Amino acid sequence: MQLKVKQFIRKKVEEINKEAGDRTTLVATSGGVDSMTCAVLAHKALGRRAVILFIDDGLMREDDEAKARRELKPFGIKLKTLTAQGDFFRVLKGKDDPEQKRKAFRQIFYQTLSKALKRSKAESLIQGTIAADIIETKAEIKTQHNILSQIGIDPKKRFGFKVVEPLREIFKYQVRRVAKDLGFSRRVYQQMPFPGPGLATRVLGEVTPGKVKILRRVTSIVEEEIAELKPFQAFAVLLNDKATGIKKKKRSFGNIIVIRSVESKDAMTASVTKVPWRILERMRNRIISEVPQVVKVLFDITPKPPSTIEYI
Ligand code: XMP
Repeated sequence: MQLKVKQFIRKKVEEINKEAGDRTTLVATSGGVDSMTCAVLAHKALGRRAVILFIDDGLMREDDEAKARRELKPFGIKLKTLTAQGDFFRVLKGKDDPEQKRKAFRQIFYQTLSKALKRSKAESLIQGTIAADIIETKAEIKTQHNILSQIGIDPKKRFGFKVVEPLREIFKYQVRRVAKDLGFSRRVYQQMPFPGPGLATRVLGEVTPGKVKILRRVTSIVEEEIAELKPFQAFAVLLNDKATGIKKKKRSFGNIIVIRSVESKDAMTASVTKVPWRILERMRNRIISEVPQVVKVLFDITPKPPSTIEYI
């Protein structure tokens, strides 16, 4: 689909205005290109009646909140933060099945938003669902955290608010064009996708604060070292198994990290980035020396399909 960007922006601003009327609307943003685009569209349409919220669920990356705050400031948007780490880890506790984890995340995510909506006296939520999220959830490949009505869950009945999805018909590369046109910096419109359930999609087995802490540090190393290749998406995964290693001349039964880097246009299929050996070595050296809990670093060479991009 050839997207007429300016026309799209005009239409969406009108739509949001019509949906919201004179009521306050909440926009959940993670700092990613989809939700940041929604934040600015809502701000254009509603001004101060759009409350832009970052949920600190304990599953985000090192710089996500600060980055979202910094990048929204030039638009005159003040980001609010809701800290809810305890709630998220509580519901993820003891769950190791991927779909159970995804559904538990979705439930607590919308319950948290429901409380935030009540507090702001808002009646609807704007969120950055894109076409690929809908297609994959409907195909039952995986339960994307933000899909509700498309699979028969009525958000009004279940959580008490209406959901508005301005980007539901377009794909990632088209969202990037909209974000660029809105005036976002390259850092925002060219950034890699990061899933709503955050690092929970990259910790295999039970998600605990300790595991997420290890993965968060490794994630920064991988993102920093691979940046020069500008991959569609690159990240680290923490496996549920352990392996024997040697640290400080002693046996250490430690963690295994997988590095994944893929190229794609719409995230529906993906090929593996041909990462030069020198970059792989640099990542491995830094991970092993900076994160003592890790004893093994692997590189994933599987395209999508048969793999998916994330690990759960
Ligand atoms: P998969 O793993 O299905 O991922 O190949 C395709 C793209 O979607 C992202 N992804 C998600 N995004 N909520 C999101 O907002 C989710 O629950 C979710 N799961 C996967 C993934 O990072 C990739 O870009």
